[in-house]
Amino acid sequence: MNKLVAPSLLAADFANLARDVEMINQSEADWLHMDIMDGVFVPNISFGIPVMEAVHAISKKPLDVHLMIVQPERYIEAFKNAGAHILNVHYEASPHLHRTIESIHQHGMLAGVTLNPHTPVSVLEEILPDLDLVLIMSVNPGFGGQKFIENSYDKVRRLKELILKRNSKALIEIDGGVSDKNAADLYAAGADVLVAGSYVFNSPDPKKAIQLLKNETV
Ligand code: DX5
Ligand code: ZN
Repeated sequence: MNKLVAPSLLAADFANLARDVEMINQSEADWLHMDIMDGVFVPNISFGIPVMEAVHAISKKPLDVHLMIVQPERYIEAFKNAGAHILNVHYEASPHLHRTIESIHQHGMLAGVTLNPHTPVSVLEEILPDLDLVLIMSVNPGFGGQKFIENSYDKVRRLKELILKRNSKALIEIDGGVSDKNAADLYAAGADVLVAGSYVFNSPDPKKAIQLLKNETV
């Protein structure tokens, strides 16, 4: 359990992106989470590589990139060049996951695999020793501001067991519906990293919200 926090830029004010990135720079956030949606893998389109480059130019935090796109292997080099530090691909979009993870590592990034709510953690058994991160979706991917799926606690516990069994160093990251209401229970279940979009950016004091997530005690 590491208690890292990654605010999700999806909930930022896109007309004031520099201001919101600067808020994250000044905060206790560990990473900056960026959601890339293609309108095919998920029913929404967010932002792409030019926006990532612009954010990378001013961000002091490592960019944690969550690809919600089909054929993510086609864009590994592009996201490396745009400044990604961590690249997360969806299990459901990656038939040749082992090759994709190898390629992410060859490009000098940390590699994460993301699971949709219906995908069991057991599908990662063989690949876990090769991963730096597993991103558990605690909402259906595509939109911010959705309700946290309660089954996610059990899923985190099962993943933690599997990580220990496979002697993997993978961190567990949770994405969707995270707030001060569930942060402590998520850390207690075994989560290492919490992503939070609307909880942070809808707060009257986003820096304080980030600090609260980091300091939740279990
Ligand atoms: C959803 C994205 C999330 C999103 C989380 O598909 O992957 O990162 O920004 O938003 P909240 O924290 O509002 O649920
Ligand atoms: Zn995300």
